[in-house]
Amino acid sequence: MLAIADLHCGYGHSEVLNGVSLEVPDRKLVALLGRNGMGKTSLCRSIMGLDPPAVRSGTVAYNGTDITDMAAFKIARLGLGYVPQGRRIFGSLDVEENLAMAQRAPAEGNEGEVWDLERVWELFPQLAERKKNTGSHLSGGEQQMVAIGRALTTNPGLLIMDEPSEGLAPVIVDQLNERLLALKETSLSILLVEQNYSMALKLADIVYVIENGKVVFTGGPDELDSNEDVKRRHLGVGV
Ligand SMILES: Nc1ncnc2c1ncn2[C@@H]1O[C@H](COP(=O)(O)OP(=O)(O)OP(=O)(O)O)[C@@H](O)[C@H]1O
Ligand SMILES: [Mg+2]
Repeated sequence: MLAIADLHCGYGHSEVLNGVSLEVPDRKLVALLGRNGMGKTSLCRSIMGLDPPAVRSGTVAYNGTDITDMAAFKIARLGLGYVPQGRRIFGSLDVEENLAMAQRAPAEGNEGEVWDLERVWELFPQLAERKKNTGSHLSGGEQQMVAIGRALTTNPGLLIMDEPSEGLAPVIVDQLNERLLALKETSLSILLVEQNYSMALKLADIVYVIENGKVVFTGGPDELDSNEDVKRRHLGVGV
């Protein structure tokens, strides 16, 4: 389980997270919603030990280990996989190379199924047909699949995805949604950052909403969907 307690972080003199507490229980999918600039990426980067932002106080623990001040490569090795916003894959490498270079054995104590390239092809058959295409010759949706596949081949116990649906056409978002539902059936724990409200709601076990670096809602997807106030004020849904 990932447990974040009272996390404060910022850039220079500006504070971006003002005491965020959030948990991702084992094998659950937690969705983090919030409008532009609310601190979602900053939270992901803080979890992954990426600098900036600088963590000022609070703690991040993964399976009971305090990872707050741990180096990013050690955090990754413990089993945290990250799909950054904007799907930064290597444009000059082909699909297979992009995946192979990330491949790593599961961390000790990670009892889940092993993700090898075969398993990634099973999850994303479209990629199997494009193994030899270079990253720059893929559609946005395919690039996102590579970015997710690459994080999976590191064999994480927890997968953090930062706005995977961003910039994708609705029909491609639907396909991605369906693939993420398949991922949810595995032993992975998932933290999904989204601005696509309906996608997040379909996938999530638990939803957090953040506004200006603070959690303003925590609850089940149905609870959020019936909370017109939170939807309107913090997400701009239904206005
Ligand atoms: N490298 C940086 N240096 C200074 N300020 C930054 C930096 N990155 C982000 N910020 C600021 O921190 C705040 C939170 O940004 P963050 O990227 O975490 O938001 P976000 O919720 O991920 O937004 P989006 O949905 O647009 O991706 C914003 O005010 C942003 O301008
Ligand atoms: Mg962001």
